[in-house]
Amino acid sequence: MVSARPLQVAVLGCGVVGSQVVRLMTTHADDLAARIGAPLRLAGVAVRRPDKLREGIDPTLVTTDAAGLVTRGDIDVVVELIGGIEPARTLINAALESGASVVTANKALLAEEGPTLYAAAEKHGADLYYEAAVAGAIPLLRPLRESLAGDKVNRVLGIVNGTTNFILDRMESTGAGYGEALREATALGYAEADPTADVEGFDAAAKAAILAGIAFHTRVRLEEVHREGITEITAADIACARDMGRTVKLLAICERAADGRSVTARVHPAMIPRSHPLASVREAYNAVFVEAEAAGRLMFYGPGAGGVPTASAVLGDLVAASRNKRSGSQGPGESAYARLRVSPMGEVVTRYHISLDVVDKPGVLAQCATVFADHGVSIDSVRQSGKDGEASLVVVTHRAPDAALAATVGALRRLDTVHGVASIMRVEGE
Ligand code: HSE
Repeated sequence: MVSARPLQVAVLGCGVVGSQVVRLMTTHADDLAARIGAPLRLAGVAVRRPDKLREGIDPTLVTTDAAGLVTRGDIDVVVELIGGIEPARTLINAALESGASVVTANKALLAEEGPTLYAAAEKHGADLYYEAAVAGAIPLLRPLRESLAGDKVNRVLGIVNGTTNFILDRMESTGAGYGEALREATALGYAEADPTADVEGFDAAAKAAILAGIAFHTRVRLEEVHREGITEITAADIACARDMGRTVKLLAICERAADGRSVTARVHPAMIPRSHPLASVREAYNAVFVEAEAAGRLMFYGPGAGGVPTASAVLGDLVAASRNKRSGSQGPGESAYARLRVSPMGEVVTRYHISLDVVDKPGVLAQCATVFADHGVSIDSVRQSGKDGEASLVVVTHRAPDAALAATVGALRRLDTVHGVASIMRVEGE
């Protein structure tokens, strides 16, 4: 039995994750107290709809006054699980100003306001923890920030959005189009009623900004992350990838340039070989590779969303913040000392898969090849199949600056002999 002063915990938001955090705080109370050295006491749960029945939660602890709860003066840790920018930003700032530590899963807010929140935490001697903001239950930020603190991370690459991975996986395994796969994801609860944040890549871009910031000790703003979603992916793209022994995944890629002076962060669909470990990440799972100079290649895999798994990451942070409160110490703050340049997408060196519908007559292949050569893009492979005066030309390039590859596609589109560009996608992992 732990008899130290209980630590007062305020939970903001009691949805899919918040309700599980409260449940686990109760069912694991003795273990958590033993690990922290003091019991956790639920001081209040701020909700939008107080009339909703919440099993296992003392109704006297439920309030709609989130601001009053975080500023009442005796709160040790605020767990913010509302999401979005406001009112989360105001509440987190108020909590930090009151000296409370904050645990949050709010990737959008961290990607936009991370430095400001860190500064407020530092000023008031509080902690800011957010393991659950990236890849749900998967321990990823703490390994990057703490376990790899003595190493040099050169690359972080992975699948950090479960909804889009589910949709692409369904398109791949059933041959469904994007719309049909999205409807299935919505029916099964993987996609929200408004799926924009997931399918347009905003969620993954926020996660990429957070990952790049921690990995490279450099501030990476959300608008510096190149972002493309999956809404334009067609069943034909997936079939084309399959024909070439590849599959399509929405990847978040954060890289340090070869000269070490700049970094990039991007989110876009990419073809990867079917033999690549990320190709076997199915349904709504997440997986992230971290490449570090000394450690080599590490892979992190697991559930990237869902109430119970995400609550696990939140509770881990809650234990860390509570221990620090007890000992009067502080967890790691922002580390942005490297101040590396964040390069735009045009400078990223990548490979393209381009599938063209062309006229099948002498000289067309040479004409297309000239366009690649004119832009300094080297061709890796060409495959042509023709029928009735039309041909399908599939070109995979060697690595070249993205701007040169995009200009090549633009010039190809302008050729009279090119009737259409059936599919363009970056190729990774080869
Ligand atoms: N909507 C996210 C996903 C989970 O589908 O992975 C929360 O970031």
